[in-house]
Amino acid sequence: MSKEYKIAVIPGDGTGPEVVAEGIKVMETVADKCGFRLKFTNYNLGGDHYKATGEILPDSVLESLANFDAIYLGAIGHPDVKPGILEKGILLKLRFHFDQYINLRPVKLYEGVKTPLKDKGPEDIDFVVVRENTEGLYAGAGGCLKRGTADEVAVQESINTRKGVERCIRYAFEYCRKRNKAKRLTLCGKTNVLTFAFDLWERVFNEIGEEYPDIEKDYAHVDAVCMWMVKNPEWFDVIVTDNMFGDIITDLAAIIQGGMGIAAGGNINPDGVSMFEPIGGSAPKYTGKQVINPIAAIMAANIMLVAIGELEAASIVEESVIKVLRDDLKDVAAGRMGYTTKEVGDLVVNYIKMIND
Ligand code: IPM
Ligand code: MN
Repeated sequence: MSKEYKIAVIPGDGTGPEVVAEGIKVMETVADKCGFRLKFTNYNLGGDHYKATGEILPDSVLESLANFDAIYLGAIGHPDVKPGILEKGILLKLRFHFDQYINLRPVKLYEGVKTPLKDKGPEDIDFVVVRENTEGLYAGAGGCLKRGTADEVAVQESINTRKGVERCIRYAFEYCRKRNKAKRLTLCGKTNVLTFAFDLWERVFNEIGEEYPDIEKDYAHVDAVCMWMVKNPEWFDVIVTDNMFGDIITDLAAIIQGGMGIAAGGNINPDGVSMFEPIGGSAPKYTGKQVINPIAAIMAANIMLVAIGELEAASIVEESVIKVLRDDLKDVAAGRMGYTTKEVGDLVVNYIKMIND
């Protein structure tokens, strides 16, 4: 009997279901080719479900998601739901509940994709951001006093635990070693101002770094990282950083790799249930129009295949995506691809079928 993986699918809001459908189609094709099976189970969560039922993410769903090998997510965000409710109630809750302590975001400019950076090409933009995903400013620590009065006080604290920082930094060193490129790990922090939080990060980085003599240790303040990412992105190999800085620099990174139609990420618990998603939003105004590029969702599937250990399938998907981006798509932006969402999925599927066994 061939191996079977159980995948929970949360298509979510807006254009999420459209791009997820293409990712599933691609995964089914490559599983067929590589001789394993995928069993997909759909979960109806998101803005529409919340509006219809008042339910965000019931405990029963959380419990049942624990039985899967991975979660594949489309997009969460609805124009009629106040910002924060669904993000906190679904996306962040899943990250925290399953202790997905790594947010892994590969940043690679593929041939044929436009970058807004002048004079930079695919050989210059190829790095990975390892973002801590369960702590920092996202931990929800803090509070407010006298809300709505002139004396209002709002405090939002960044929580950094030794354990959380250590496991993130260790993951980044291991990842950098396995990736085997420039073998350089850059700690992105702000040691000149955040003298408690990034003092901890820096000490742990140096300590753990001693176990990795083969990896070059590099440090840059977050503001400088932003500058270098635009000016000299070729400097970076792997970047490790906290949750908030990671959130910000990966949007910048996504844009230099061709935008939200391309960028994907994994929310990873190496010993638990991980979740994979295109990092663009739900793009509600394009819902049902078939203009969104599904490559980001397909690359999220690629990261998922790596995580479940189907490396050959993952590289077949990447190889096929490379061909589509290089030879077929005119422009990756919404509505300008020259193909519909479904047609882009079909192109990837066809290349997968054409690859010799
Ligand atoms: C991301 C998103 C989320 C985050 C939002 C939607 C809560 O921006 O995955 O980067 O801030 O982490
Ligand atoms: Mn973000």
